[in-house]
Amino acid sequence: MNDAIRPVLAGKKALVVGVANDQSIAYGCARAFRNAGAEVAITWLNEKARPHVEPLARELEAPITGPLDVSVPGQLEAVFEQVRSTWGSLDILVHSIAFAPSKDLQGGLLDCSAEGFAKAMDISCHSFIRMARLAAPLMTEGGTLFAMSYLGAARVVPNYNVMGPVKAALEAACRYLAYELGPRRIRVHAISPGPLKTRAASGLKDFELLLNEAARKAPLGELVDIMDVGYACAYLATEFAHRITGGTVYVDGGANVVD
Ligand SMILES: NC(=O)c1ccc[n+]([C@@H]2O[C@H](COP(=O)([O-])OP(=O)(O)OC[C@H]3O[C@@H](n4cnc5c(N)ncnc54)[C@H](O)[C@@H]3O)[C@@H](O)[C@H]2O)c1
Repeated sequence: MNDAIRPVLAGKKALVVGVANDQSIAYGCARAFRNAGAEVAITWLNEKARPHVEPLARELEAPITGPLDVSVPGQLEAVFEQVRSTWGSLDILVHSIAFAPSKDLQGGLLDCSAEGFAKAMDISCHSFIRMARLAAPLMTEGGTLFAMSYLGAARVVPNYNVMGPVKAALEAACRYLAYELGPRRIRVHAISPGPLKTRAASGLKDFELLLNEAARKAPLGELVDIMDVGYACAYLATEFAHRITGGTVYVDGGANVVD
């Protein structure tokens, strides 16, 4: 795809959470926003992740960078304080993070522990609500919030296990947040990409089978890449999409409509 697109997001400011490396869906979003003229703020999980993320943030000319582990009290507030003091406002937020303890993720839902379920729900879902709460006051001119979901929210996808109910909760949270934030012209989208070979995906059993199945089913006949997801989000963040909110947008070559 030609990267030389019109700067339809010029002047917009986007906080993108979830870049681990250049395969991350969050990186595709940040790259697409940047190609469309926006400025981006980039976070890394911790010091171990930093050397992989910092060069990407530099390449994206991010004026705001820093650590963000949503399970560490105060870090989320610190990032939003940095956004407020540097930019004064925010237009776009991407939540592209997920986690479940591996023994809870690898086992079936029946065997998922209460602690594992709570941890997966907190990091993969409730943190989006916390982000929305902090982002909304900065979105004085309206804005767009994105959370990454997956087909396993709506259907049973073998081996997706505890993440199915967690993503279902995330999609429902998007609907309720869209309802509550609509009067402030803040739009909320769950984005549901087809399977992509990323670090997070490597934690899923038989992920290769899922990739093959998605490519076989997709009416468009091929897998998606992170820039497909990024450009879909970039479009939804523009004024051209100002009356779209609350839904789950599939970026999967159409695979979700085929049984
Ligand atoms: N890869 C796929 O096939 C696929 C498909 C649909 C949806 N998704 C979703 O996309 C999102 C991004 O995943 P990805 O596939 O790009 O993988 P990834 O490994 O590149 O990204 C996952 C990110 O989650 C972050 N993270 C985990 N725990 C965190 C915490 N406590 N605080 C802050 N960040 C934390 C990691 O640092 C990492 O950057 C996830 O929500 C995932 O469920 C992925």
